[in-house]
Amino acid sequence: MENKKFFDESSRYIMNTYNRYPVMLRKGRGIKVWGSDGSEYLDFVGGVAVNILGHCHPRVVVAIQKQAQRLIHVSNYYYIEPQIRLAKLLVTHSFADKVFFCNSGAEANEAAIKLARKYSKEHCGPDRFEIIAAKNSFHGRTLATLTATGQEKFQHGFEPLMPGFSHVPFSDMDALKKAVTGSTCAVLLEPIQGEGGVRLPGEDYLKEVRKFCDEHNLLLIFDEVQTGMGRTGKLFAHEHYGIVPDIMTLAKGLGGGVPIGAMLATEKVASSFQPGNHASTFGGNPLVCAAAVATIETILEDGFILDQCNRMSKYFIERLDELKTKLPHIIREVRGKGLLIGMELKREGDPVVRACLEKGMLINCAAGNVLRFVPPLILQRKDIDQLVEVLNGILSRLS
Ligand SMILES: Cc1ncc(COP(=O)(O)O)c(C=O)c1O
Repeated sequence: MENKKFFDESSRYIMNTYNRYPVMLRKGRGIKVWGSDGSEYLDFVGGVAVNILGHCHPRVVVAIQKQAQRLIHVSNYYYIEPQIRLAKLLVTHSFADKVFFCNSGAEANEAAIKLARKYSKEHCGPDRFEIIAAKNSFHGRTLATLTATGQEKFQHGFEPLMPGFSHVPFSDMDALKKAVTGSTCAVLLEPIQGEGGVRLPGEDYLKEVRKFCDEHNLLLIFDEVQTGMGRTGKLFAHEHYGIVPDIMTLAKGLGGGVPIGAMLATEKVASSFQPGNHASTFGGNPLVCAAAVATIETILEDGFILDQCNRMSKYFIERLDELKTKLPHIIREVRGKGLLIGMELKREGDPVVRACLEKGMLINCAAGNVLRFVPPLILQRKDIDQLVEVLNGILSRLS
């Protein structure tokens, strides 16, 4: 009854931009969350790849509590200690020399697009502004990032879109080569496509893209909003492919649950941004940066979290592959890296998501028919076993 009141008030007061499941989550610990009616769930959605250390990780909670007592927000007109510590950590553990902080993945990509344009105009000429992105990609919901996103379903109704973007099939080197024009300034890619249905690049694709960008004086931007912060078993997904970008964007897992985005770049590229070129009131504020410092330090400590992610990934994929062998008429493919795992069905995924919810499992569906699993990296075998048992029951009943 109490829930019905909240659901009604939600419809009444909140804009209708989400199809919500009939659950209100009130409490979380580790991989578990509890609804307001007391029901318990194992969370394989993790706030859509955000809760990298699980819900309410003690180190993140303490960092937030301590920072909240000291200082929550000040303007970027002043130096901010947790922001400096976070930038130093990110630079120390990545290819990058400089960081710009913002509040979300879309904003991080906006910053990347602006920096790429500015750098290219300054270094390669006034007509260099076009960015080549991939079909099936997802880069955000602001107008520029929506235009960069290679999925028409998100763009419909918001035209005219921004000029200066084109799209090629993901992992198709020939198509990329053909798409370059005299106006091209950068290539923007997710190293592994997330929202597009957990799609991995071919073995050498990203290496070839890097080489091609170097040969043609193009910037390479990696959107690691979903794949970053250990999600794929390395701190950044591009590390699997032996190359580095010129610009990288992060958000989701970066703050362990608090809203923060970051755009990282090499010194050479970053130096095109000067005071006044770009800004964000909340970007890099003390509270979110303190949470992000605690998150990164925990991920990096002894490599424990990344080891756990890789071990659980192997086991998870093996268990899902067993299901695929048993149910080849339902399951087309299991794929992924680290704990970004997709199971492509030969049918719609949403009924399976709903059936899982009823059995206490939060999962999500991307691209219509790909069940996506992006749980906290602290996942354990018993959690995977429970999910696979539930999936087995649900999928076996489908004809
Ligand atoms: C790869 C990628 N880029 C950008 C975004 C947009 O991030 P946000 O929703 O924080 O703006 C997402 C969100 O799903 C994403 O997966």
